[in-house]
Amino acid sequence: MDLSSMSVCDLHLFNEVCTAFEGYLRAHKPTLNTFHPFFEKALWEMLLNGGKRFRPKLLLAVVCAFVRSNQRIQQAYPIALALEVLHTYSLIHDDLPCMDNSPLRRGHPTLHTTYNETTATLVGDGLNTYAFELIANAKLSSPLKVHLVATLAQCGGVRGMVLGQALDCHFEGQELEQAELEELHTLKTGKLIAASLKMGALIAKEFSKTPHDLARILFDLGLLVGLFFQVRDDIIDATQSPEQSGKSTQADGLKNTYVRLLGLEGAQGYLCALQAQFLDRLETLPHALRTYLTHLLESLA
Ligand code: IPE
Ligand code: IPE
Ligand code: MG
Ligand code: MG
Ligand code: MG
Repeated sequence: MDLSSMSVCDLHLFNEVCTAFEGYLRAHKPTLNTFHPFFEKALWEMLLNGGKRFRPKLLLAVVCAFVRSNQRIQQAYPIALALEVLHTYSLIHDDLPCMDNSPLRRGHPTLHTTYNETTATLVGDGLNTYAFELIANAKLSSPLKVHLVATLAQCGGVRGMVLGQALDCHFEGQELEQAELEELHTLKTGKLIAASLKMGALIAKEFSKTPHDLARILFDLGLLVGLFFQVRDDIIDATQSPEQSGKSTQADGLKNTYVRLLGLEGAQGYLCALQAQFLDRLETLPHALRTYLTHLLESLA
């Protein structure tokens, strides 16, 4: 089967969808109707503070590559938002004093700095569950939503990001071997990135004909991209200023990172090797998907 005929490539449309998604995010702050003086503002603050929106854009790239109807593409927005909301919760908890103790995120003071640790912890908890509420309320079929919930829970929870964060914090100050570090990075970062691509494939399949096994192929590609993403993040900590990165840097002193394991040059070499590997795999994908993903990955460089 000619996979390239299954998708239609329009990079302009994909960029417009990403811009429209940003508007959707800004318009979908949950309303709490509460007498708490600032919890409602704190809940959405870190989402409004920016970020690359890498995970929702991965999902939208897959949907846009296969689905032509704008209305159907928009039905994926709550799921893309769920990914960004869950990711933002992970950042808020990651920055807490009991974890990485970071004062700066997305160019702004972290929530525990602006408010207090209680607020930051509870905002994280609230965003975690709100992600699943967004999926439950989406205008998609119930079997698809169950599959999306299961994927996000597995990859964002105790078999994914949460376990990775537990390993990351537990082994601070104790050197891990390369295979262990790869597992840590795959869990804490790779799984959610892989889930983003897989969830895009599950939605695309509901609305359109997609290549056989696309969800699995993209999940595996996502694990590779996720490892690349975290190695790149380790290098950012070592090489960029807080002004450049928008977050606290030179902060990984006790952490297991690729810079610590391989040295800066070694980590940069490994990053290039991972990039070459996923560029090779992108070659096998339908044209539109390859174009959108290449565009997203280039925007990281
Ligand atoms: C930061 O994620 C945490 C990691 C998993 C490396 P991002 O680099 O995607 O952060 P934002 O969303 O752009 O702020
Ligand atoms: C965090 O990794 C990964 C998450 C699951 C949030 P880091 O601790 O390296 O992320 P940054 O550097 O603070 O963004
Ligand atoms: Mg961390
Ligand atoms: Mg951190
Ligand atoms: Mg980091």
